[in-house]
Amino acid sequence: MIDNSQSIQWFPGHMAKTKRKIKEILPIIDAVAEVVDARIPLSSRNPDLHEIIENKPHIILLNKCDMADPTATKEWIDYYKSQGITAIAVDCKSGKGLNTFKDTIKTTLSDKLQSYKEKGMVGKPLRVMVVGIPNVGKSSFINKIAGKTRAKAENRPGVTRGNQWFTIDKQLELLDTPGVLWPKFEDKTVGEHLAVTGAVKDRILDIELLAMRLIEILADGYEDLLIARYGNLDFSVDSYEVLCQIGKKRGMVIRGGDIDTERAANMLLEEYRNQKIGNITLERVCNNA
Ligand code: G4P
Repeated sequence: MIDNSQSIQWFPGHMAKTKRKIKEILPIIDAVAEVVDARIPLSSRNPDLHEIIENKPHIILLNKCDMADPTATKEWIDYYKSQGITAIAVDCKSGKGLNTFKDTIKTTLSDKLQSYKEKGMVGKPLRVMVVGIPNVGKSSFINKIAGKTRAKAENRPGVTRGNQWFTIDKQLELLDTPGVLWPKFEDKTVGEHLAVTGAVKDRILDIELLAMRLIEILADGYEDLLIARYGNLDFSVDSYEVLCQIGKKRGMVIRGGDIDTERAANMLLEEYRNQKIGNITLERVCNNA
């Protein structure tokens, strides 16, 4: 029997130090590049970021787009555009989409570049801070785009010693997040979505409950993919029953004819994370924004 009242217990995280460090460096930053997981563009964000970065130009990198639903990714890009934010789809594992990053930054900051030019400050690089919660792919992004041109921590005016700077080219420098930005752990849905994608360990959760949540999401638009993977399923029953059907299809039957739902849940989550079920986005614009 599954206890539906179970909530996820998260450790609170210490955001204050990170906020202070970001605020300190903000005056010398020209723009913020926020990396999010394209499968969960809402849950993989820090809820306070908007307030922390004030009015800095902001671009969003919808990373892991190789695992997300391309239609949903496009909808998110259009949504952000309607909010005045440029978003680009990237895959930092293969590097796909990254070629547009530099141009996007230069377009976003074209007024600044023009004013540098007018003031004769032609060699002054743009400084972009890369932010994102753990596991969204920040390191993969920086490694891919910076290659081996990693700059050492420098002590020069306005640049705090110990911050991780990367020189991309003569016009662009990146700063890795000074500290850790946490997701909105206190929100149960956020925790579940992060656990389903594997961004946080699922051991702290009821694995069957998590698989049921995944089934509920997939049953609303991705039924065909589930059926293609596991065979005919009856979605008119509750998600626990659908989990049982999936377990039965895979022969996960224990003594007495019951289904080993824990094993079925682990298998389902594993197959979702390894993209065996398909390209699936858990958070859609139409349901959330
Ligand atoms: P972080 O700095 O934000 O914490 O994230 P990091 O780059 O360490 O990436 C977290 C995981 O996500 C890594 O997998 C990384 O390979 C994977 N990843 C990052 N970007 C992409 C992407 O665009 N597509 C896909 N499919 N995966 C991506 P890992 O399993 O922790 O390590 P490994 O697989 O690299 O060994």
